[in-house]
Amino acid sequence: MKKMWGGRFKKSQDRLFWKFQSSIDYDKELAEYDVIGSLAHVKMLAKCKIIPLKASRAIIRGLEEILKDIKKGSFKIGNNAEDIHSAVYACLKNKIGASADYMHTARSRNDQVSVDMRMYVKDKSCALKAMVTEAQKSLLSLAERAIDIIIPGLTHTQQAMPILFSHQVLSYVEMLERDKTRLHRAGESCDEMPLGACALAGTSFAIDRQYTAKLLGFSKISQNSIDAVSDRDFVLDMLYSIAVFFMHVSRFCEDMILFSTSEFGIIQIPEEFCTGSSIMPQKKNPDALELLRASSAEAYANLYSVMIMMKGLPLSYNRDMQIDKKHLFDSVKKAEYALDILTKLIIGIKAESSMGDKQGIDESLFALDAADYLVRKGLAFKNAHDIIGRLTLYCTEKCIKISSVPVSRLKSFSKAFDSDFFKIFSVKKSVMGKQSQGSTNPVLVKRRINSWVQKLKP
Ligand code: ARG
Repeated sequence: MKKMWGGRFKKSQDRLFWKFQSSIDYDKELAEYDVIGSLAHVKMLAKCKIIPLKASRAIIRGLEEILKDIKKGSFKIGNNAEDIHSAVYACLKNKIGASADYMHTARSRNDQVSVDMRMYVKDKSCALKAMVTEAQKSLLSLAERAIDIIIPGLTHTQQAMPILFSHQVLSYVEMLERDKTRLHRAGESCDEMPLGACALAGTSFAIDRQYTAKLLGFSKISQNSIDAVSDRDFVLDMLYSIAVFFMHVSRFCEDMILFSTSEFGIIQIPEEFCTGSSIMPQKKNPDALELLRASSAEAYANLYSVMIMMKGLPLSYNRDMQIDKKHLFDSVKKAEYALDILTKLIIGIKAESSMGDKQGIDESLFALDAADYLVRKGLAFKNAHDIIGRLTLYCTEKCIKISSVPVSRLKSFSKAFDSDFFKIFSVKKSVMGKQSQGSTNPVLVKRRINSWVQKLKP
């Protein structure tokens, strides 16, 4: 394959170095965008009468054929291609001959790779947002199915207070909504058309950058040619959005793994997403959730790699920047996988037991309800907290349940205790008793489910 820059070299490149520097293995992902970018560029060159009309027509015809081949999956990348830009150029030259050589007028691969990447990020931000919505919908269906299930809510991984399982599921719907906002912003941050920056200084030809921007669907053009080819903020924005998304995914996975253990016994993970053990016949392991939890580490690593790669690079373009693609594509692919798998897996989750059904419920879950009981009897909260703390200690030391302490004994802790105190020991009452907006009260949780269903309707 003929290089895009052979002229000033007497020797050909070292074979090992050639292989090492080639990015075609991963930047072929940009093939479609590269052709679309070139089509717009060439149309602009023709409109501005910078290249011969005949050559521009031949190029456009050739590029359109290549685009079709790419979409069909029949685009052939030549042996020894350096990157996607040279691969497309070589293919075009093969198809239309010398006219292809006009295509790269007033353009460098530096602004070309930037426009390709921006189009990719723009598309992926939209596609991922749509996939996140599907994951939210499957969370909503789980929340609806499991609406009667009350579980011990945790803080510090210790049982804290009774909550609706659905309330916890909905908290992930909220998180995913914020992920969509971040993805959207990443899509916005790449909405600046860099073509025309060329290598770094712009061009001596009277090009029409607004026209190219319009053809490519960008709302504005970059205003500094140096910044245009040096900027990878939009890559970082995308990597960051995905990293935060994976932080949420990993917390969800961890919750589901915990809840599926025999110790918690709250959910069953669908068998299609589990594997067994080669030695312990009884095992059903939550591997899908574990691997997705681990994907968060890879998403963070991708973000950090590009952050560190960019740090301290002198302006403008440097070849170091080539590796941003590896990390970006990897994070996007992992996010796509995660979303597809999670959406299916969540549909299959069976929430199976409710604390209300369980024997031997840990009554410390009602400690705040007990303190609030005393507050309703007129005590200051701090005082009530102290009394229930001492009562809890007393019961722990005596190995008895708080609900089994007779009123006469309770009165030694506070005169405010009465026989109605025992009514608080119901998980249903506890959740029903919550009144604040956004709380775990089942009426409010149902309302929130409905408002999400409405909001996520197409
Ligand atoms: N493969 C390169 C990259 O991804 C394309 C730009 C090459 N530019 C250059 N001056 N060598 O960054």
